[in-house]
Amino acid sequence: MQLEINNVSKSFGKKKVLENLSFEVNSGEIIGLVGENGAGKSSLLHILATISKADSGSIRLGKWIYGKNRKQLRRMVGFVPQDIALWEDMSVEENMLFFEKLSWINRSKIELKQLCEDMELLKWKESVHTLSGGMKRKLNMAISLIHNPGLLLLDEPTVGIDLRSKKEIAEYLKQTAQVDNKMIMYTSHDMDEIQSICDAVVCIGNDPFYENLLREANMKIISI
Ligand SMILES: Nc1ncnc2c1ncn2[C@@H]1O[C@H](COP(=O)(O)OP(=O)(O)OP(=O)(O)O)[C@@H](O)[C@H]1O
Ligand SMILES: [Mg+2]
Repeated sequence: MQLEINNVSKSFGKKKVLENLSFEVNSGEIIGLVGENGAGKSSLLHILATISKADSGSIRLGKWIYGKNRKQLRRMVGFVPQDIALWEDMSVEENMLFFEKLSWINRSKIELKQLCEDMELLKWKESVHTLSGGMKRKLNMAISLIHNPGLLLLDEPTVGIDLRSKKEIAEYLKQTAQVDNKMIMYTSHDMDEIQSICDAVVCIGNDPFYENLLREANMKIISI
């Protein structure tokens, strides 16, 4: 499967956030989105998650076209927002069961529990408000995987996560990209992490500072 982004632009009022952005991603690839605060990384992920729309340009995922095939696209995309979205008064188990009901795939309780364990989130019976920020983030990631999406969009998934969990998440992402042939796009401000996980990067916002940083790190840049 291929994601093709062609000349995409997006503005909020007078502020141009994305300007003629074009690049392609294939299944099995992990692409990092980098750029300064306010550059437009989350805005791009929102467009790809079909939560918001580009002003111009075209986007295609496999045979489906953004702006035309929203329903089909939603089934193929998993999204972990920058801000955590969970039911705080319910347990991990109840959250997983709730979001499984919302998805179009039937998953057994054992499968749902396994998804959490893949993330090293071993708090199945515990109430979400008792979890740490990092654990909530892992739960958000597990939820985004319930419907087995081919394209996974992660907005700063490793913020506030301890070093061990960061490494576990990195390993998990690499493995699921390779073994399950998933396409992953994710944002991070951690260059070392980007370098160790990503096959290539997209630099958002025409920023020479970031471009230099990426060149120095010998990263493959697919769009500037
Ligand atoms: N719904 C909105 N309405 C108006 N302006 C918005 C909206 N969403 C984003 N913006 C603006 O668009 C710009 C890009 O925001 P975005 O959240 O995409 O940046 P980002 O690269 O994700 O930044 P960060 O690294 O801080 O998460 C910012 O100036 C932001 O204020
Ligand atoms: Mg953001």
